[in-house]
Amino acid sequence: MKFAVAIDGPAAAGKGTVSKAVARHFGFAHLDTGLLYRAVGQGVLRGDDPVSVAQSLDPKQFDEAALRTPQVAQAASRVATMADVRTALLDFQRNFAAQDGGAVLDGRDIGTVILPDAQVKLFVTASAEVRAERRYLELAGKGMDVTRAGVLADVKARDDRDSSRATAPLVAAVDAVRIDTSALTIDAAVAQAIAVIEKAKRR
Ligand code: CDP
Repeated sequence: MKFAVAIDGPAAAGKGTVSKAVARHFGFAHLDTGLLYRAVGQGVLRGDDPVSVAQSLDPKQFDEAALRTPQVAQAASRVATMADVRTALLDFQRNFAAQDGGAVLDGRDIGTVILPDAQVKLFVTASAEVRAERRYLELAGKGMDVTRAGVLADVKARDDRDSSRATAPLVAAVDAVRIDTSALTIDAAVAQAIAVIEKAKRR
């Protein structure tokens, strides 16, 4: 049976954590679509053409640690405004979602553009301050040279760019269930997501 879960939301809202936990719980495959845009952004920082990079990505070759830097995140949100880049990444994401056994995809436009017919759509969000603090702790914990103010500025700049772009802007699908993780523990956020999916599976 095909079963797709779309999880969207702004930067550092907890989509990745919720997606991984949900995928583990239900035995679904998981694709962090942000990594695709980050890989294209990384290519551009190296001087490559964004569309060529997007057309020849091999997620198996991704060096995730190198893709998680703030510089690559900013480059990702810039290439993510390019319609041709988004088009080049579309089939890969749809094919991933169509695999047997179910799939979770997290990103910005999964429920609106990539999988408008997903069985479950979640919009995971939190206040900008909470998101920036979480991302600061994550990056500082990896030993990166970051400041709270710098991370907050990065998160807000990407949110603005992601929300205002013409192609596939960040917006909750009308039929998405919203989970605000500002005051939730990881376990509580994951439990809410699992409850929504359980209900959809029974339908
Ligand atoms: O992990 P974080 O939420 O900070 O970002 P990400 O999910 O890795 O995405 C990095 C950037 O890629 C975002 O700021 C978006 O500009 C872009 N992106 C997108 O446009 N569409 C997606 N489906 C996923 C990411």
